[in-house]
Amino acid sequence: MPESFLVIASVRIINGLISSLISAIQTGGILVWDLGLTLFNAVAPLRPANRVVPEGCPGANGLWPQYIPAADTDSRSSCPALNAMANHGILPRSGRSISFRELNAAIRTTYNFSPTFCFFVPNYAAEMLSKSYWSDTFDLSDLSAHNCIEHDASLTREDTFHSPDQGEPCAPLIKELLASGTGPGGNLTTTDLSRFSGKRRTDAKKANGQFSMSTFHKLFGSSNSSTMLTIFGGIVKDLRPMLLEERIPDGWQPRVRRPWGLTLTEFQPTVLKVELGIKEEVQSALSLFGSSTKKAA
Ligand code: HEM
Ligand SMILES: *[C@@H]1O[C@H](CO)[C@@H](O)[C@H](O)[C@H]1NC(C)=O
Ligand SMILES: *[C@@H]1O[C@H](CO)[C@@H](O)[C@H](O)[C@H]1NC(C)=O
Repeated sequence: MPESFLVIASVRIINGLISSLISAIQTGGILVWDLGLTLFNAVAPLRPANRVVPEGCPGANGLWPQYIPAADTDSRSSCPALNAMANHGILPRSGRSISFRELNAAIRTTYNFSPTFCFFVPNYAAEMLSKSYWSDTFDLSDLSAHNCIEHDASLTREDTFHSPDQGEPCAPLIKELLASGTGPGGNLTTTDLSRFSGKRRTDAKKANGQFSMSTFHKLFGSSNSSTMLTIFGGIVKDLRPMLLEERIPDGWQPRVRRPWGLTLTEFQPTVLKVELGIKEEVQSALSLFGSSTKKAA
């Protein structure tokens, strides 16, 4: 039957078009929603600094549920913020069978990210893991699948090549990061994070024969580290327990006090400042310039 090829091919093309259309509409919808929240946030009063987590949610009034470090049998990820939630029982302490939808709600109240961010990131993670955002669950360790979401040159983990268990924080790296702050009182600034990320990328590339990092992973890396500047305000005294023990300090509240939380739109400038400030990314181009001007002189 000659038309069977045509039928099959057309159905495939139409299916493909429909699913790209749906995802374009979804992304467009999220961005419009995000802009709306950003505008609302810009004019609405900030929440009081000690009342950012909503009443009735874990962490309201700075009272966090008990911290219990992970047992060997618990599942943990390469993300300090999600591990901390499990260590406080805001996510299941086992780190297992977490639904993407429950993750959305939990990061909304715990860290005051906007509803758009809280949908976008878990939805993206679900897609990367070939799971359904709406009906599936995951274990925290699933997020450490190398070069899927997890990547090389992290600030708080050695590369997978050296340290296959990405659930464990790397204390020497974290201490070096925390000691590198040049802001008031030694707090971390965007410049500090660019400098430290650049150093990590250079060092990791040298030490890891299987080093790889796509532009995509670079941007995600800067996005992850930018949460240290926004949600945690760069404040070293809070980042120390958060990164080393994956423990939320007593009395802590998110530093972003916007009523609709940190939106994707408001987050982007910080992410770009960190990523575009990484000198090591342009060093070869700069030295080319340097040597050509020297030759010309
Ligand atoms: C909602 C879902 C989230 C997912 C799926 C997720 C996933 C991840 C993953 C896979 C990494 C490791 C990336 C790497 O290889 O370096 C990571 C790192 C990180 N994430 Fe998350 N994350 C989420 C939410 C958050 C939130 C809400 C915060 C902050 C409040 C946060 C802060 C961080 C930080 C500070 C790092 C460490 C970056 C580094 O070591 O370089 N994450 N996240
Ligand atoms: C960092 O900033 C916070 C808030 O501005 C301040 O209280 C603290 O003393 C600073 N220094 C350190 C080391 O945390
Ligand atoms: C951290 O990076 C992962 C990908 O490496 C990404 O899915 C997630 O959205 C990032 N988290 C934040 C808070 O930016």
